[in-house]
Amino acid sequence: MATILLLSGPNLNLLGDRDPQHYGTTTLEELVALARETAAKHGHELEHLQSNHEGVLVDAIHAARGRCAAIVINAGALSHYSHAIADALAAFDGVKVELHLSNPYAREEWRHRSVLSGVVDGIAVGFRATGYRIAVEAAAEMIAGR
Ligand code: DQA
Repeated sequence: MATILLLSGPNLNLLGDRDPQHYGTTTLEELVALARETAAKHGHELEHLQSNHEGVLVDAIHAARGRCAAIVINAGALSHYSHAIADALAAFDGVKVELHLSNPYAREEWRHRSVLSGVVDGIAVGFRATGYRIAVEAAAEMIAGR
């Protein structure tokens, strides 16, 4: 059994209520339950942390080193400019999956670039809640293949 760490960045605590046209109406709690269920099907446990603070997310990535087999991260808006999170992920040698509920490439131009994409193994974007299942499935398969 391995531990998969799911990280949620700023404003994702407002899911369910926030901008449903882009993010749907599923709450973060429901998304975490879906991710946890998917991890359990593969025999893994899933930990989750949501923070509105960049440094808290960086600390969580550091604390996952040598302890978690994979990180699945929806860093919210930080995805587009946090080189600190990108550097922390680069120093994590487990499986890394970037996740977005919406398709940022079909939205405002400032969302078209993710500074995290270059340091992760794969990306799931635009599948709303289903993306949480897809991302955890992909992480579990990559863990198995290592
Ligand atoms: C998001 C996309 C980001 O551009 C945005 O800032 C978010 C959510 C998504 O899940 O689609 O907060 O990461």
